[in-house]
Amino acid sequence: MAPASLYRCLVCLAVLAATATTATSHSQCLDNPPDLTAGGHQAGVVVDDLAGFKAYVTGNVHSHRAIVLASDAYGFEAPLLRKIADKVGEAGYYVVVPDLFNGQPATNGTNRTEWLPAHSPVKAAQDAKPIFEALKRGQNSVVGVAGYCWGGKFAVEVAKTNEVEAVVISHPYAVTADDMKEVKNPIEILGGQNDTVTPPKLVYRIVHTLRQRNEIPYYAKIFPRVAHGFAGRYNATDPFAVKTAEEALALMLDWFHKYLK
Ligand SMILES: *[C@@H]1O[C@H](CO)[C@@H](O)[C@H](O)[C@H]1NC(C)=O
Ligand SMILES: *[C@@H]1O[C@H](CO)[C@@H](O)[C@H](O)[C@H]1NC(C)=O
Ligand SMILES: *[C@@H]1O[C@H](CO)[C@@H](O)[C@H](O)[C@H]1NC(C)=O
Ligand SMILES: *[C@@H]1O[C@H](CO)[C@@H](O)[C@H](O)[C@H]1NC(C)=O
Repeated sequence: MAPASLYRCLVCLAVLAATATTATSHSQCLDNPPDLTAGGHQAGVVVDDLAGFKAYVTGNVHSHRAIVLASDAYGFEAPLLRKIADKVGEAGYYVVVPDLFNGQPATNGTNRTEWLPAHSPVKAAQDAKPIFEALKRGQNSVVGVAGYCWGGKFAVEVAKTNEVEAVVISHPYAVTADDMKEVKNPIEILGGQNDTVTPPKLVYRIVHTLRQRNEIPYYAKIFPRVAHGFAGRYNATDPFAVKTAEEALALMLDWFHKYLK
């Protein structure tokens, strides 16, 4: 990022940090469960055994560039997430949305106090190693991870390895500034002004850590007037929410176009 735009970005982050809402014990992670019945056309298919995982796959399987799309707590069946996956596929990638919960994602009735601690994205990133190995062994020589909420932490853990070349995290869950000390790949962070899970203040600390390292390309943006979930689990009948989600997707694709060659 050019110094001038970096400076602007940091200024805007600083301003927004001042207006950040304080985190409450209520986690927005499980707010607004997706409507799993809202079908619509899906361009991809579900495969039963992608390196041992069930997965929704879409896009060009022969592309040398693959994206692993790591879902939020509600898992790989959410129609909106699959629509995003299809759009990434249309942009020229092979896209894999694995079931990282072995058929047991959070559901509408999930007890949030119990579910989140019982499903560690750190462990999931360990368990998912075969997926990345399989992609690299096949036709997909460069691989990125796009993570939403829970999947954001998953993506950061993968970014600490040499399994991928670039990551994008949107309204992540449980990501810390210290995580950035270990990240090995270009990372884009998309935050929301009203996200209490990763509030602007935390995005600012994340950026600060990356800036100090001065070796890993990064980009961060905080979208105004949107809460947690704005990129991956938005209200599809709210024009402002749709516009914001489209902007977030465009920035994500820009990042992958730039760093997955
Ligand atoms: C979630 O459950 C509540 C109460 O049972 C119900 O009113 C609501 O429609 C459900 N939402 C979804 C997205 O399934
Ligand atoms: C959710 O789980 C916690 C911890 O086990 C328990 O204390 C709480 O009562 C549960 N909440 C509901 C609504 O069941
Ligand atoms: C987001 O936060 C701002 C500043 O705290 C507040 O004015 C606005 O109403 C909030 N918007 C939403 C959609 O929650
Ligand atoms: C989604 O947006 C529409 C239009 O703004 C609104 O009427 C509806 O209440 C919203 N749904 C939710 C769950 O916020």
